[in-house]
Amino acid sequence: MLPDQTLLRIPGPTPIPPSVQQAMNEPMIGHRNQETKDLLQTIKPKLKPVFGTEQEVLILAGSGTAGLEAAVVNAVRPGDEALVIVTGAFGDRFVKICDEYGISVHRYDVQWGEAISPETIAAYLANHPDIKAVFATYCETSTGVLNPVQELARVVHQNTDALFIVDGVSCVGGVQTEMDAWGIDILVTGSQKAMMLPPGLTFTAVSERAWQVIEKNERPSFYLDFKRYRDSLANNSTPFTPAISLLFGLKQVLTLLEKEGLNQVYRRHQLMKDMTRNAFRALNIPLLTADEAASPTVTAIKPDDFDPEALRNVLKEEFGLSIAGGQQHLKGKVFRIGHMGYCSPADIVQTISIIETALHNIGKSIELGKGTRAAQEILLKGGF
Ligand SMILES: Cc1ncc(COP(=O)(O)O)c(C=O)c1O
Repeated sequence: MLPDQTLLRIPGPTPIPPSVQQAMNEPMIGHRNQETKDLLQTIKPKLKPVFGTEQEVLILAGSGTAGLEAAVVNAVRPGDEALVIVTGAFGDRFVKICDEYGISVHRYDVQWGEAISPETIAAYLANHPDIKAVFATYCETSTGVLNPVQELARVVHQNTDALFIVDGVSCVGGVQTEMDAWGIDILVTGSQKAMMLPPGLTFTAVSERAWQVIEKNERPSFYLDFKRYRDSLANNSTPFTPAISLLFGLKQVLTLLEKEGLNQVYRRHQLMKDMTRNAFRALNIPLLTADEAASPTVTAIKPDDFDPEALRNVLKEEFGLSIAGGQQHLKGKVFRIGHMGYCSPADIVQTISIIETALHNIGKSIELGKGTRAAQEILLKGGF
């Protein structure tokens, strides 16, 4: 293993494209100078298609959780009823944030590894007419599930006047997202996953309906007040000092996404998902999620005859390859491979073949190359 080589295949942070890394090295500029205004003016229209919205996308300096907390504090008030759909660790985080702010939470748990069924939410909402907001996770990173947010938005709006608020942190930029057409009211993402940037930015778009609710919300909040960000952005500015280096990088990320074309970006992620899943299937190592529920950005694998932590240790120590372990009750039971952002189908071939070698090294009996071949077969069919 090379001393400074890291192969990063966790579901965020993800590798940074060299041109983005370089852009972030630009010398500092004044945050109230024309250069920063020009930077934001260039970024603004290019972010909208990533969200599938005509709304401006607000940019806050903070991690993804700051975006989730901002969504809660802006859109719901203490005592309001909110439904939180929990399909894993990040749905659970929304519950914790809501609890902290005195929201009256209805928690709807789904077995980890499964997606929520929109029909059950329709029935739940029909029986709970006072719910003011429904929170869901688009890609549940802890399980590799992609929840059906388009259908969820439909049932939320058919059954209630509630706002539909979505955590898209681990997939926006890597999977198709049509916020306006689907009826998502608040959509949050972060910089360090499919957006190919270091951690440190969170992005949020807000629908007209949600703005009407936010306008009436007297809740005191300072740094996380969406209205401040909206009003500043209208003047190509930010209410507080922006993370300028990350904005330099973001401009380049958006150029790269435009160059590749968003549809192609989404196809690439689908292909990487299919390659990864086909590989483990060929090796007879169980996947946590069913095909219909699987996310294009992260895959969770639940082996039944070896310790995922032993595999992860060998991968890191012998090959410099980082993959993620399980969270909460899945700790020590699953391992997760991130395949989003600056990650190509060729990277997946490499990842699978390294994992096969490491499996061999921990004593798991496999036919070397079988998983790699299965991934290659999907790659060939995918026409890349
Ligand atoms: C779906 C999801 N939501 C929220 C977060 C939290 O983001 P951060 O760690 O940047 O606060 C993550 C991070 O892994 C995530 O995957």
